[in-house]
Amino acid sequence: MLLHNHIPITIPLNKRNHRRSAAVVSTTASYESLTSRGFTFHRTTENLNLDHLNSVFAAVGFPRRDPEKIRVALEHTDPVLWVEYEKTKRPVAFARATGDGVFNAIIWDVVVDPNFQGIGLGKAVMERMVTELLEKGITNIALYAEPRVLGFYRPLGFVADPDGIRGMVYSRKHKNKY
Ligand SMILES: CC(C)(COP(=O)(O)OP(=O)(O)OC[C@H]1O[C@@H](n2cnc3c(N)ncnc32)[C@H](O)[C@@H]1OP(=O)(O)O)[C@@H](O)C(=O)NCCC(=O)NCCS
Repeated sequence: MLLHNHIPITIPLNKRNHRRSAAVVSTTASYESLTSRGFTFHRTTENLNLDHLNSVFAAVGFPRRDPEKIRVALEHTDPVLWVEYEKTKRPVAFARATGDGVFNAIIWDVVVDPNFQGIGLGKAVMERMVTELLEKGITNIALYAEPRVLGFYRPLGFVADPDGIRGMVYSRKHKNKY
């Protein structure tokens, strides 16, 4: 989510052309094992406690944000995916996307509670996010990744600088010029 030191990456064209590319869309067998272990996947923000979500953001080092701003951001988000741990009723994994609804989407705020990392939740959420976007016909899917998580996104079908295309973001250093 934070743009500092993030590398824009996207799904390459050869994997975008197929509405249901196996390389991107196939889901792991662990999905069933995750649900049987008490993890529930949600596709709406109903019952999502924003203070609890903020705590997950803070736990991974994202800045804690104004819950009201999160609420507004979520109103402009589609799709959203989050995972609830049944024992605590708290969110433990989350991802969301914004876009124009037909061509382009950017995935934001991919996060897994540190206590639940390494058991496939991040991969499961990302696979479902990409599947949902492709099913909507949205094939230009991008995200910003910290260098330390490039290896997480690559097997999910994302590449940095596809065909040499570089991402650019507005720098606040220039804010006085406008
Ligand atoms: C990055 C993150 C979402 C991964 O979630 P996770 O639930 O721990 O990942 P999973 O257990 O689903 O791992 C899936 C695969 O990715 C690999 N992986 C996970 N994190 C990785 C990393 N940082 N670098 C390389 N590979 C990684 C796992 O080894 C696993 O590989 P396998 O399928 O071969 O077994 C999670 O570590 C996180 O929330 N990090 C802090 C927030 C963050 O950096 N978010 C990304 C913003 S750019």
